[in-house]
Amino acid sequence: MRPPPAGPPAQGCRRVARLLRRTPSPSHEPPTERRQRRGPGVSRPACRGFPPLASVHRRWRADGSRHPLRSGSIEPVSSPVADVPASLPPTPAAGPRPGSSVPVGASRPAAGWRDRPGDPSPFLAACRGERGSWTPVWFMRQAGRSLPEYRRVREGVPMLESCARPDLVVEITMQPVRRYGVDAAIFYSDIVVPLKAIGLDLDIVQGVGPVIAEPIRTAADVERLRPLEPDDVAYVTEAVRGLVGQLGATPLIGFAGAPFTLASYLVEGGPSKDHARTKALMLGEPAVWAALMERLAGISAAFLQVQVDAGARAVQLFDSWAGVLPRRMYAEHVAPWSAQVLARLEGQVPRIHFGVGTGELLADMAGAGADVMGVDFRVPLDEAARRVGAERPLQGNLDSAVVLAPWPVVEREARRVLGEARELPGHIFNLGHGVLPASDPDVLARLVELVHTETAR
Ligand code: CP3
Repeated sequence: MRPPPAGPPAQGCRRVARLLRRTPSPSHEPPTERRQRRGPGVSRPACRGFPPLASVHRRWRADGSRHPLRSGSIEPVSSPVADVPASLPPTPAAGPRPGSSVPVGASRPAAGWRDRPGDPSPFLAACRGERGSWTPVWFMRQAGRSLPEYRRVREGVPMLESCARPDLVVEITMQPVRRYGVDAAIFYSDIVVPLKAIGLDLDIVQGVGPVIAEPIRTAADVERLRPLEPDDVAYVTEAVRGLVGQLGATPLIGFAGAPFTLASYLVEGGPSKDHARTKALMLGEPAVWAALMERLAGISAAFLQVQVDAGARAVQLFDSWAGVLPRRMYAEHVAPWSAQVLARLEGQVPRIHFGVGTGELLADMAGAGADVMGVDFRVPLDEAARRVGAERPLQGNLDSAVVLAPWPVVEREARRVLGEARELPGHIFNLGHGVLPASDPDVLARLVELVHTETAR
């Protein structure tokens, strides 16, 4: 591939960017046709850093300190995007309800997502362990602060409030699909949304993360966690339904936090480096820990089920902070509950399981039963395949920081990831963790283009 010429982007590039923003591309459309649709006069080689059109036809070879909390529940605001009434997560009517878990999906027949060879989505093909028309791409945290259009619609709207407004959720989820032409959309929400929805006093503090007013550390605290009912998150159902209509053939990925990662926020009271209180509870009070994990597994599964019932075509279980655990602790005190969540969704849609710094845990995480394993940036994909078993499709794993480097470095590293994925049964290209806020959206767009053209089959 040619090195990008110096100087400002060619006129054609700006037109491509404008057209891309206007025209969401169905994910089953071949890259060549998508490119032709961008309009006459847009010649790919004129675009800075983009591969020549011919390459489309080539196979790749290759402390926990506390922060002020907003008290109370989410306030309604009028919508600047569409005339959709804001719906709010209710506070519990009669205080905490006891109960261990919701019998989510217990009677649902398997949807047989594996038996749809005619499904044209390269993302779903990769989930089935097939090499589809090209290697699909999406980015964790693709909707968010790296996008100016996200910052615009979020202006003056607190994070959790934005998650409770279907009009905003639809718009923000669609933004990266329009801009990047990714092969899947990730539902715009947060892992703490279901916890807020069952009445916990928490907020997401910008630049910090979730902060919990009253941490959960005792058996009595655990009793405050009631099951999540679909009506608690009616705004999620509404937003997913709206998205399915707009996305067409591009699958929507629903998600939830895994019980351990949710527990770590609840026990610590906010983000933590060492997760010391969480580990101390796990080892020192195993019965309280098990009760906490049981309830969180029910909440997590219920949140995923709501999204699947409304039309999400895959789910991702984020156990972001599981990498702080030694293997023995993960296997005994975490894996059984992640497995419980994943089992509730079995056969309905493909299930992806991801954590950061989980190289040492990959085999145990894979044992929890997901269809696809997400791999962070630390472990090469071919090595990850040796750890989880060669038959499992993998998702990953370009280091998010690489996107901030000059384009030739991004290109080289992306090709390395594709090379390491060569023998996998299915590969979903992604970053090794989320998009960093400082990322240049144009670089992410070029990255999608690069992966598509390099892997078109
Ligand atoms: O990926 C996406 O584009 C979909 C939306 C999404 C968000 N959070 C929106 C969000 C998803 C999938 C999440 C999951 C999430 N939330 C995880 C698991 C994924 C991961 O990154 O490991 C975790 C651990 C959280 C908790 C959380 N929420 C953190 C650590 C933060 C960052 C704090 C900060 O401001 O730096 C949040 C806030 C958050 N969630 C933002 C977004 C877009 C940024 C807040 C803002 O824009 O004001």
